[in-house]
Amino acid sequence: MSNRKKLQDQIAIVTGASSGIGAGIAKALSEAGATVVVNYSSSADKAEAVLGEIKQRGGQGIIWKADVSKEAEVQDMFRKTIEQFGTVDILINNAGLQKDAKFHEITLEQWEKVIGINLTGQFLCAREAVKEFLKRGVVPSRSKSAGKIICISSVHEVIPWAGHANYAASKGGVMMLMKSIAQEYASMKIRVNSIGPGAIRTPINHAAWQTPEAYQNLLKLIPSKRIGEAEDIGNAAVWLASDDSEYVNGITLFVDGGMLLYPGFEDNG
Ligand SMILES: NC(=O)c1ccc[n+]([C@@H]2O[C@H](COP(=O)([O-])OP(=O)(O)OC[C@H]3O[C@@H](n4cnc5c(N)ncnc54)[C@H](OP(=O)(O)O)[C@@H]3O)[C@@H](O)[C@H]2O)c1
Repeated sequence: MSNRKKLQDQIAIVTGASSGIGAGIAKALSEAGATVVVNYSSSADKAEAVLGEIKQRGGQGIIWKADVSKEAEVQDMFRKTIEQFGTVDILINNAGLQKDAKFHEITLEQWEKVIGINLTGQFLCAREAVKEFLKRGVVPSRSKSAGKIICISSVHEVIPWAGHANYAASKGGVMMLMKSIAQEYASMKIRVNSIGPGAIRTPINHAAWQTPEAYQNLLKLIPSKRIGEAEDIGNAAVWLASDDSEYVNGITLFVDGGMLLYPGFEDNG
């Protein structure tokens, strides 16, 4: 067995890596040997802290400010990453947010904000990544694939979510975006998959776990009877980015403690 780490010498861009799931994935990829671009849009101090932890553990990377919904900023992030590190091997399309409201009260601004970041942002980043993967092709010493894209979707790409129609629509869109790109470029050794997290302990959903009452209520939806941690998603991302999953393409790997198992039927329905 070689001591080579699974993502040794690979360059990863992780969008929205200043917090929560993105931060967890950035650290996990770094542990697996990747150099990480810690993208953020407003929280520079938090991005610095994530990179600081990575460096403290012997990893390397940079922080990069870019709003993923802005074409020029995304293109600049990819250009600068390629200039500095030579290429991009892995894209983690993670940046996302919620703007919740009852459907009849959702403003066009709330709709466009969520679709702009959660869906258009994934399109803009994936397009730049695919261009670079096609240009470079496979480098067998690094990976059997020309490139890997992992879209962070949600269980809400399949579970409808009242009060969150804009968010659920964005994640349903991510599912078909991911599958269509995977189909289009599979023969060129580009792999595109999603991770569908269930409830993960991050700032996006702190209301669902911050009090014991809220947490007990949340557990009714989770057969495994615990909330997920960013590390659970980080572990899945390392696997999907590595050659261990080389024959896996176009799937959503749900990491949700069984949330998709119709928990209402747990006690005989
Ligand atoms: N937590 C869950 O239970 C859960 C479940 C399913 C799916 N997800 C998905 O997981 C992803 C991460 O969520 P999270 O829970 O980790 O949320 P979070 O802790 O709120 O982190 C969101 C991240 O996205 C970044 N971001 C927001 N707008 C951005 C933009 N325009 N451009 C670039 N970055 C931007 C934020 O950076 P700044 O602060 O710098 O703006 C932050 O780093 C999202 O796609 C979310 O839908 C989460």
